[in-house]
Amino acid sequence: MIPLMKSTFFNEFETKKALADFILQTNKLSMDQHCFEFEKQFAEFHNTKHAILVNSGASANLILIQALLNLGRLKKGDKVGFSAVTWSTNVMPIIQLGLVPIAVDCVPETLNCMSSNLKHTHEKHKLKAFFITNVLGFSGDLANIKKYCDSNNIVLIEDNCESLGSKVDGDFTGNFGLGSTFSFFVAHHMSTIEGGMLVTNDEELAEMLVIVRANGWDRNLSAITQKKYRQSHQIKSEFDAKYTFYDLAYNVRPTEITGFLGKMQLKYLPDNIKTREANYRVIESVVKQNSDLIPLVSSHMDFVSNFSFPFVCKDAALRDKYIKEFAGAGIEIRPMIAGNMQLQPFFAKYSTIKEELIGANHLHHCAFYCGNYPELTDTDLQTISSCLI
Ligand SMILES: Cc1ncc(COP(=O)(O)O)c(C=O)c1O
Repeated sequence: MIPLMKSTFFNEFETKKALADFILQTNKLSMDQHCFEFEKQFAEFHNTKHAILVNSGASANLILIQALLNLGRLKKGDKVGFSAVTWSTNVMPIIQLGLVPIAVDCVPETLNCMSSNLKHTHEKHKLKAFFITNVLGFSGDLANIKKYCDSNNIVLIEDNCESLGSKVDGDFTGNFGLGSTFSFFVAHHMSTIEGGMLVTNDEELAEMLVIVRANGWDRNLSAITQKKYRQSHQIKSEFDAKYTFYDLAYNVRPTEITGFLGKMQLKYLPDNIKTREANYRVIESVVKQNSDLIPLVSSHMDFVSNFSFPFVCKDAALRDKYIKEFAGAGIEIRPMIAGNMQLQPFFAKYSTIKEELIGANHLHHCAFYCGNYPELTDTDLQTISSCLI
């Protein structure tokens, strides 16, 4: 059996042992110094000014949209483009928070939305924002997408939950938008069991994200920022400030366990993603020789921090054939994330605007993936390869 993932952590035993010791020795397990140190280290790793830790990637997406609404950078009723092939909780907050989701098609060869897809949708819908997803470690032409968004006043935000460590156009995916989100759920590039992060270089957005993360209060802001908020709302005493709630918020705080694990797993990340990439190249070379499959294009990328092995068949009948092959070999597989999001029941229920999505439809009906992670052995890679020959 080759499961979607074999372990919860990179260096599983050391991490679990260190976690057990940490829990026994620490007095405080709610959000504190370990979380803040992890945020600092993650921001340094990602070369961004701010990193805000939360309890999941879904929460990161939710508070990013809420923060943009609180700041007036988006308004209820605005049209927000999203990658047609993405995860449910990328699109759900757009709907939940009163915005209008518009699917942007993708290109099967890159799995991602390209600038040409965005241009096509924007010309029709006049988008106010584009919440792009970098799918399974791959990406579109993000520099061109950013340029297009800048010159058309589209707020670009990135869901980078599946692409931590990937690079394109000279930078990490996740560094092209105003803000971006990450997931540390088990089976993502690095795991804190559950967990998520946001990064941004925008001071005002970072402050609002901290407010939205916890109750709407100012408790986790710097003293200078607290003063700014308190003065502008005539909050005169520390006593009143304790329970003053400035804007719409949630409680999506992480725990110190998230912070502790995050710091530990971040140290292993460079080795972890190097092995994932090497595994991917082995499988890619087999895919290239199989005329049933569409070879993926990543030549525009500097580094593919691979999340899983995607396989795009030329038609649905071929996918059925490979689903049987993989099942027979005991390899766990999944559909191409949520496929064409417009075909999902929740989207059909809540959204009236439907686009023609040729690329996303192809991925929906003809693609699948299996897991890629550092613990895969040469024998595992051979087993996967043997299903493709
Ligand atoms: C693109 C994308 N966005 C968001 C999420 C949500 O992350 P989480 O499971 O940490 O809530 C996922 C989860 O797999 C994802 O793939």
